[in-house]
Amino acid sequence: MRLHHRLSTFVSCGLLLATTSRTAARTLTERSDGAKKDATVLILGGGVSGVIAARTFHEQGIDFKIVEAQSQLGGRVSSFTFGAPGKEFTLENGANWVQGTVTEGGPENPIWGLVQKHGVKTQDNDWTGSITTYDATGPVDYLDLFNDSIDAFTNITILAGERVAKRQVDLSSRTGYQLIGSKLKTAQAMACEYYQLDWESAGTPEESSLITTSWAANFTYDPDFGGFGDSNAMSIDQRGFHTFIQLEANEFLQPSQVLLNSTVTKIEYSTTGAHVTLSNGKTLTSDYVLSTFSLGVLQNDDVEFNPPLPSWKQEAIQTMTMETYTKIFLQFPNNFWFDTEMGLYADPERGRYPVWQSLDHPDFFPGSGIFFVTVTGDYSVRVEALSDSEIQSEVMGVIQAMFPNITIPEPIAFHFPRWHRNPLFRGSYSNWPPSFTSDHHTNLRATVNNRLWFAGEATSQKYFGFLHGAFFEGRDVANAMSKCIKGKGCVTFSHVEDVTNAKPYTI
Ligand SMILES: Cc1cc2nc3c(=O)[nH]c(=O)nc-3n(C[C@H](O)[C@H](O)[C@H](O)COP(=O)(O)OP(=O)(O)OC[C@H]3O[C@@H](n4cnc5c(N)ncnc54)[C@H](O)[C@@H]3O)c2cc1C
Ligand SMILES: *[C@@H]1O[C@H](CO)[C@@H](O)[C@H](O)[C@H]1NC(C)=O
Ligand SMILES: *[C@@H]1O[C@H](CO)[C@@H](O)[C@H](O)[C@H]1NC(C)=O
Ligand SMILES: *[C@@H]1O[C@H](CO)[C@@H](O)[C@H](O)[C@H]1NC(C)=O
Ligand SMILES: *[C@@H]1O[C@H](CO)[C@@H](O)[C@H](O)[C@H]1NC(C)=O
Ligand SMILES: *[C@@H]1O[C@H](CO)[C@@H](O)[C@H](O)[C@H]1NC(C)=O
Repeated sequence: MRLHHRLSTFVSCGLLLATTSRTAARTLTERSDGAKKDATVLILGGGVSGVIAARTFHEQGIDFKIVEAQSQLGGRVSSFTFGAPGKEFTLENGANWVQGTVTEGGPENPIWGLVQKHGVKTQDNDWTGSITTYDATGPVDYLDLFNDSIDAFTNITILAGERVAKRQVDLSSRTGYQLIGSKLKTAQAMACEYYQLDWESAGTPEESSLITTSWAANFTYDPDFGGFGDSNAMSIDQRGFHTFIQLEANEFLQPSQVLLNSTVTKIEYSTTGAHVTLSNGKTLTSDYVLSTFSLGVLQNDDVEFNPPLPSWKQEAIQTMTMETYTKIFLQFPNNFWFDTEMGLYADPERGRYPVWQSLDHPDFFPGSGIFFVTVTGDYSVRVEALSDSEIQSEVMGVIQAMFPNITIPEPIAFHFPRWHRNPLFRGSYSNWPPSFTSDHHTNLRATVNNRLWFAGEATSQKYFGFLHGAFFEGRDVANAMSKCIKGKGCVTFSHVEDVTNAKPYTI
């Protein structure tokens, strides 16, 4: 049963537009310093947001250049070859699923559109109907609790909707669970709750906003609510999932419009233009800069801004959260585990090696001997700090607990990526904490000095964390910049100088 609410009752407008003077728009074509420009717009970062922004500028006839540190486009869509010699497969270190594809008569996830257009091979992955449950004693059927956890999550999204309609403050998802009466204590129930919330948000219910966690789920998965649909299409394309964005880029991008292997170290900006310095000492000059760097990169000062970003921008950057989602891959000589697509393990410690996925399944890579386990948030940070062999032996201990009567063979291949430690990402994707208010969101997205613009998954109000969030932000911010550049009244995203409480505290 779905409840229908009118969208307009609670969706506040994500764009705050402010008009600046036409003269400001004009000066950019007549730069006072007379420097030779490398492009009108430098797009910093060649992930989904950067490539779609480039496509938008191409359509708008605005001259641009993408600057990307890695040797190829795609960013957090990143594949690798895994497996013992002769049993190798292309797997995904980063994004792997089109989450919410399309429902007849409804909006389509734009990533699904690109996947279809470029013939990327995907397979539906059943996250709720094909799952086997375990705890520290071995296989135990607790699908009743699993079903309850789906209902509890739906119930907190309904509570969130009611609160938005009444203009009540945001809360944590944990408070939401408490208020609907879901006060779980057992390892099994907590593993189920983890599966519904942490496995998606990559943060805990304590760390996740009630309202926006519900929006992200509704707008992605709930067709009755403006969402795309409830399926998850997993890429099994042996060219890599990044094929969808690289082939799209090939359709419009000229070699001269992209600088690969080019790491940005400094962005100098003023009200008339920008200089971008690379690690090789080279400097690029432009009228505008569009940063699509991850929130983690911005939080960790990997790139220097000169002048330093204003305090309202820094507060917004530091208040949003960058989380980590870690897939740990194992390959064995043969499959000894579940024949469902998913497995759920309830450790006494919440979040310890909870979600297991079989790739050695008739729908995916039968005979591959591969399955993988996912950890998130602080547990990912912990895992990244330990050696591969330490993590392998912990994971083997969990597998032995899940399958007590089986003599587990040694894995023939083992791998996990370290997204949190990677200076080009500093995590996997953003998560919206309860302390991040609507004004913070406005400020994360706002333009600085009319020249420095921001896009990427983290600036999306409806789909932060997702590929489709990165897509929409790349498109929408580039369209707004294009209007500005063409001088049809320069419209920037304005900011809020001081983010205040609705009612100031009195002491
Ligand atoms: C493990 C994992 C699993 C995920 N699973 C899914 C999923 O299944 N479905 C889904 O929808 N989303 C998923 N996501 C999220 C999705 O991948 C992101 O939301 C999206 O790819 C972000 O795109 P972006 O363009 O905003 O940022 P990015 O892809 O990070 O692009 C920014 C680019 O900037 C570059 N860069 C950074 N620093 C510098 C520098 N100093 N100089 C030059 N270049 C620099 C980076 O190399 C990168 O290419 C997952 C992410 C991860 C990490
Ligand atoms: C980028 O660097 C890689 C090696 O790190 C190299 O193979 C590739 O040719 C380089 N690409 C460009 C465009 O310079
Ligand atoms: C869980 O829900 C599914 C789908 O509604 C149903 O088929 C199944 O019987 C339920 N299982 C239990 C144990 O309640
Ligand atoms: C969800 O809400 C319904 C309706 O109020 C209630 O019957 C059900 O018990 C709730 N389920 C959970 C798990 O909170
Ligand atoms: C999410 O969707 C449910 C319907 O499934 C709806 O009742 C609720 O209001 C929505 N929540 C938000 C925050 O939009
Ligand atoms: C493991 O073996 C014991 C003793 O034979 C048996 O009681 C138990 O059911 C078995 N467990 C599984 C998961 O097969």
